[in-house]
Amino acid sequence: MKKVGSASDPLWYKDAIIYELHVRAFQDSNGDGIGDFPGLISRLDYLQDLGVTCLWLLPFFPSPLRDDGYDIANYVDVNPSYGTLDDFKHFLAEAHRRNMQVIIELVINHTSDQHPWFQAARHAPPGSPEREMYVWSPTNQRYKDVPIIFKDTETSNWTWDDTAQAFYWHRFFSHQPDLNFDNPAVLEEVLKAMRFWLDLGVDGMRMDAIPYLYERDGTRCESLPETHAAIKKIRAAIDEGYTNRFILAEANQWPTDVRPYFGDGDECHMAFHFPLMPRIYMALRQEDRLPITDIIAQTPALPDNCQWGLFLRNHDELTLEMVTDDERDYMYLAYSADPRMRINVGIRRRLAPLVDNNRRRIELLNSLLLSFPGTPILYYGDEIGMGDNIYLGDRNGVRTPMQWNPDRNAGFSTAVPARLYFPVVMDPIYGYQTINVEAQLSDQSSLLHWTRNMIALRKLFQVFGRGTLEFLSPENRKVLAYIRCYDGGPNSSSETVLCLANLSRFAQPVQLNLAHLAGRVPVEMLGYVPFPRITDQPYTLSLSPYSFLWLEILDGSEAPAPNTADGEAAIIEPELRITQPNQT
Ligand code: GLC
Ligand code: CA
Repeated sequence: MKKVGSASDPLWYKDAIIYELHVRAFQDSNGDGIGDFPGLISRLDYLQDLGVTCLWLLPFFPSPLRDDGYDIANYVDVNPSYGTLDDFKHFLAEAHRRNMQVIIELVINHTSDQHPWFQAARHAPPGSPEREMYVWSPTNQRYKDVPIIFKDTETSNWTWDDTAQAFYWHRFFSHQPDLNFDNPAVLEEVLKAMRFWLDLGVDGMRMDAIPYLYERDGTRCESLPETHAAIKKIRAAIDEGYTNRFILAEANQWPTDVRPYFGDGDECHMAFHFPLMPRIYMALRQEDRLPITDIIAQTPALPDNCQWGLFLRNHDELTLEMVTDDERDYMYLAYSADPRMRINVGIRRRLAPLVDNNRRRIELLNSLLLSFPGTPILYYGDEIGMGDNIYLGDRNGVRTPMQWNPDRNAGFSTAVPARLYFPVVMDPIYGYQTINVEAQLSDQSSLLHWTRNMIALRKLFQVFGRGTLEFLSPENRKVLAYIRCYDGGPNSSSETVLCLANLSRFAQPVQLNLAHLAGRVPVEMLGYVPFPRITDQPYTLSLSPYSFLWLEILDGSEAPAPNTADGEAAIIEPELRITQPNQT
């Protein structure tokens, strides 16, 4: 008997709105300065109210926390700072009760050097089963062409271990030895850990750093056939034992190189679209749609059961690995004036500071995130426009406590401020006295309300998660225009949506060739406002600076009556189409 997942539709991840958060950063319940599961449970109503449908938890396992928990010391337990396994189960039940799915991390490329497997391996004789859990070598000259990812910290992918009298292999920090997938016991252990969480009812797994599982001489040790074979086995184990779960690949590569991670629909259900993200920022800065249309043109089609994961920001640096050298120079120049804002191959800033706290730009970027083909992933705090702290080390500047209210520690914790795992943001622009949930809940024009409305609107239309995408090519390249189309099948009606985005800081005119839709009526989706009927002539619109429009294309008979000036009776009060959920 397969274990049933909490979602009812096997393709639920295509319609999901994912919210990425760290338990440590969200809410502290016991005053020790560290967020925990009971705290997170107490904030679930907030997340439900925001409208997100799936929570992605960053690693919460026992760990020395030298890589924010991606250095795992035990795969099947909860870090005591965050609570107990029972607290986790309680959290999961409470999330499911609110119809939210939960995905967690499956970090299988490496462990912490504090994991008992590694401690045993160092002491065990070469060739022994214990030793063979990791990748050892008498020399550090093997796999010399493999790039170093954390190049600001590490100088080699090999580190000498005095106890073992050998070098061990690591693609990330030297305290994160890579597991040896040539040893079948490793995959067995991985499957055991995965089943442990799936048995508890977890709905999905983000597979961290998935391209690097195997190493082979003469290669870059990335995306090897052996790695794909291992992923297929992981997927088969999920399909065999469970329903309605999914795996999300973290493969920071070009779209054509990521495509194999979907297999024939028998590897990962979803993968992040890494190259799209920096190009959205580039298009905005250059006021030119080309970077976006260009990368989408290079994006291959996916098997039917697969989906791209889209994001504007996450817990890592805004990675610039998937851009050309020129594009990288441009991005550094445009988005990281202070060298402190850079780390490894990327920029460690949050969404709001990246766009100079410009509300229109924040909204524009979110409108793309929510209307491009794929599943949007929001990073905690970005819904209120939180800032960052570039004076914290590593990528920690974007991992500061969630800002709930103007009270002590932003309402995150009752600890003395010095005890917090990281200080809350306190500067005059992004500080918690200004930027916090409570203030934005009571302000109808806040970014939080806006985000909530947009999420609610998106959820009314399956076309965004499931439909096709076709770019229009109006002459004015400052305007990005695309049509999303979804034929819902026999039981639901088809949906056609025209999206427009003005990437410029000035108003822009645009003429669209919509002749194939002649006779139909575009209806602005937030206000349910009918626009002039489409004809076989160019359709002309003007867009205010950084504005976007979502227009549902309806048959004339389905469209609402236009507002007219003849007599007051015909004037309809403008009203948001989305009813505001009750404030809590
Ligand atoms: C992934 C994570 C990152 C972590 C790395 C090593 O890239 O997103 O935060 O440092 O893996 O585990
Ligand atoms: Ca705590």
